Amino acid sequence: MALHQGPVSRFFYCSKAGRAERDAGLAGLEPGPLLWSSGTSNPGSFQSPRTVRAARNFHPTVKPIALMAWLIGMVTPSDGLVLDPFAGSGSTGIAAVRARWRFIGIELDPAYARIARRRIAAALSSANATEENSA
Ligand SMILES: C[S@@+](CC[C@H](N)C(=O)[O-])C[C@H]1O[C@@H](n2cnc3c(N)ncnc32)[C@H](O)[C@@H]1O
Repeated sequence: MALHQGPVSRFFYCSKAGRAERDAGLAGLEPGPLLWSSGTSNPGSFQSPRTVRAARNFHPTVKPIALMAWLIGMVTPSDGLVLDPFAGSGSTGIAAVRARWRFIGIELDPAYARIARRRIAAALSSANATEENSA
């Protein structure tokens, strides 16, 4: 089937990651300048003038967790291991641990790796707490 054909149900729609989702688990972390995928030459140029340009999660392309959950859910077996060799701020890892998959993330930038570790640890502890409460 050609890419432009088929039912709309083939598509997944969700909102961008909001501030609460981006920053969950990052309490106490010093906010940094919000970075943009277009680089630092014209930071925040497409944001309104009053937009806050510092954030605890300052990764430029934070993915929605719901989107990553949908994507990895399509290809990961129930006992699977999710590998994200470009882990960024860890959204794929959060989706993985919430669904009880094992996860390995690799990230070049130590600042992003720190954010990813904190976000994934928070998601894991929240998933564990939910499981304990329902046991
Ligand atoms: C688009 S982001 C990834 C987003 C991530 N998959 C998620 O779930 O949010 C790409 C990341 O790859 C990292 N990166 C680029 N080259 C890399 C390399 N050679 N090894 C590991 N990470 C790398 C960048 O620092 C950046 O954070």
